[in-house]
Amino acid sequence: MGRMRRSWLLSGICCAIFLLLTGCASQSDSERYTLQLGVACYNQSDTFLSQLIDRLKTDLAAAETDSFQTHIMVRDAAGSQRTQDDQVKELLDAGANVLCVNLVDRADPSEIIDLARERNVPIIFFNREPVAEDMRQWDQLYYVGADAKQSGQLQGELAADYITQHPQIDRNKDGKIQYVVLEGEPGHQDAIIRTETAVDTLKSLGVSLDKLGSGIANWNRAQAQNRMLQLISQHQSGIELVLANNDDMALGAIAAYQKLNYTESAMPVVLGIDGTDVGLEAILNHTLAATVYNDKEGQTAAILQLAQALVTGQGMDQIQFAKDHYIYLPYTKVTAENAAAYLAKSD
Ligand code: BGC
Repeated sequence: MGRMRRSWLLSGICCAIFLLLTGCASQSDSERYTLQLGVACYNQSDTFLSQLIDRLKTDLAAAETDSFQTHIMVRDAAGSQRTQDDQVKELLDAGANVLCVNLVDRADPSEIIDLARERNVPIIFFNREPVAEDMRQWDQLYYVGADAKQSGQLQGELAADYITQHPQIDRNKDGKIQYVVLEGEPGHQDAIIRTETAVDTLKSLGVSLDKLGSGIANWNRAQAQNRMLQLISQHQSGIELVLANNDDMALGAIAAYQKLNYTESAMPVVLGIDGTDVGLEAILNHTLAATVYNDKEGQTAAILQLAQALVTGQGMDQIQFAKDHYIYLPYTKVTAENAAAYLAKSD
């Protein structure tokens, strides 16, 4: 072999080795990750949750890059904890590497925690908060939600403002506001706390109250309409204020009055919590006085950020935890002035 040919061959080999080495290096620089998110929902016919899950799907699709792929699997337990336990097993069998669980029974997460721990798959609970003791069962458990007390306080403040601005609400002019409460599911962290805090806040702001009654309507519009029809049959036009634990139940109350053909001036002031699309529309058409925004966009963004950090092992230090493993998004007030802006936000 001539000297020339040998040196060409040598430089060719060197070049190949270089390309091989740099090629390998750039491949490991850009590692690829796939988030396989298994979502278990207590009941997808719940208005707030179905909107939250739609948003989560959109956020996940928007977060995709060449090195970060996402796949979402959603299961609806339709109100049965046993069904949800089975669905979580299915999600794990299907390859979920992060679970997002909206418990049916927030006091009964043990089976789900055991299943996830066996496969070392972290769980992000959301919206239905497990009790603190259960959250300590394993160090791969997280919670994303909001502070119930704050929502009650803001609802109380909104109601007090509205009453001050519209003194005619005290229709019987007795100096007190006759009110009823429509409550969410018993045992849900938001139900009792929202009611208690809203009432305490109204009283602390100097509004004299007179409670006429209450009804449990499990977050549900149709049930709220029925409860409200009963309350109206007991008190006729004596109810001046309705405090509902969520927008759907507030809309059920309004529907009851509409069914009975009450005129606008004979209807009580109705307040909700959530700022669902239907709730915001009702504020814009002045049937619902105000609501408190339950920040589903903030909650889905936090779920995604957390899930991404869990899968890639990067970015956990940038997450703002309210306390160990808990992320709470703040509530905000919505009235006729800013309802349109909130409606645009959820698009
Ligand atoms: C929401 C309700 C919803 C419930 C379900 C609450 O935080 O305000 O609208 O039905 O969560 O868990």
